[in-house]
Amino acid sequence: MGRLEGKVAVITGAADGIGHAIAEGMAGEGARLFISDIEDEKGEAFAGALREAGHNVRYIHCDVSSDGDMANLLTTAIDEAGRLDVMVNNAAIAIGGFPIHEMTEEQWHRLIAVNLTSVFRGCKYALPQMIAQKSGSIINIASAQGHVGLDGWTAYAGAKGAVMSMTRQMAVEFGPDNVRVNSISPGTINTPMNEKLVDELGEHLSRAWVKMHPIGRIGLPEEVAEAAIYLASDAAGFTTGIDLRVDGGLTAAPRYVPDLV
Ligand SMILES: NC(=O)c1ccc[n+]([C@@H]2O[C@H](COP(=O)([O-])OP(=O)(O)OC[C@H]3O[C@@H](n4cnc5c(N)ncnc54)[C@H](O)[C@@H]3O)[C@@H](O)[C@H]2O)c1
Repeated sequence: MGRLEGKVAVITGAADGIGHAIAEGMAGEGARLFISDIEDEKGEAFAGALREAGHNVRYIHCDVSSDGDMANLLTTAIDEAGRLDVMVNNAAIAIGGFPIHEMTEEQWHRLIAVNLTSVFRGCKYALPQMIAQKSGSIINIASAQGHVGLDGWTAYAGAKGAVMSMTRQMAVEFGPDNVRVNSISPGTINTPMNEKLVDELGEHLSRAWVKMHPIGRIGLPEEVAEAAIYLASDAAGFTTGIDLRVDGGLTAAPRYVPDLV
């Protein structure tokens, strides 16, 4: 019996990277999934592959920066499944690697829309159902960057810090409804997001990332997925308001890395 048998989960940004690993892991644990992304071809193909493997998965297009898309994602899942047990606010973008005073208004608003307002919307459309059924687990993907500084990432860190602080607030507010709200802060994880950053900013980044993590390597998406499965499961029934750091010790030990950006 899987750890998420009978549970219904919605995941944003699930066509690739960490969201993909969370979807694969949760499906393997028996959850019924509604996965979403803006990469529809990839998302549909992934959902199809999971269905072929015997899992109950539907793909729905959802740009998390669109209120209409987020409302449609949650409404469809809740209408079809009749309940909602897990909401994973995962989708985000990386705009950074340069000083904050060089960021344009447009870049700032885009980053906040995709990385922060999306979490507000994911929670806004998930909470009424969870409160009504008196159970639920919201998992917000934050970042080690919300804990420690890194040259060039002020706006990204600001959004992730806000995600963590909203997580704590909601945990307190909706604990009496048996709705748990937690976040996960990954360190550097091997995903397309980071492959793209290395392409843009240089190969030295990969070496710096390894040095930054006391465990001596960057992480795997599956290692973040394990944390999400735990927080979604009944095993975490008394766990709310936490930020679970899956970061190879990155935020435990300040390290001097001379050539980060
Ligand atoms: N990779 C890391 O090192 C790392 C570290 C800390 C935190 N995180 C966080 O983990 C989460 C996932 O990151 P990742 O590395 O897997 O990223 P990724 O870029 O590899 O994958 C993100 C997925 O989200 C989708 N996406 C992008 N914009 C979207 C939008 N507007 N609406 C819906 N979907 C959208 C992409 O198509 C992609 O499938 C993010 O919240 C990110 O901030 C990642």
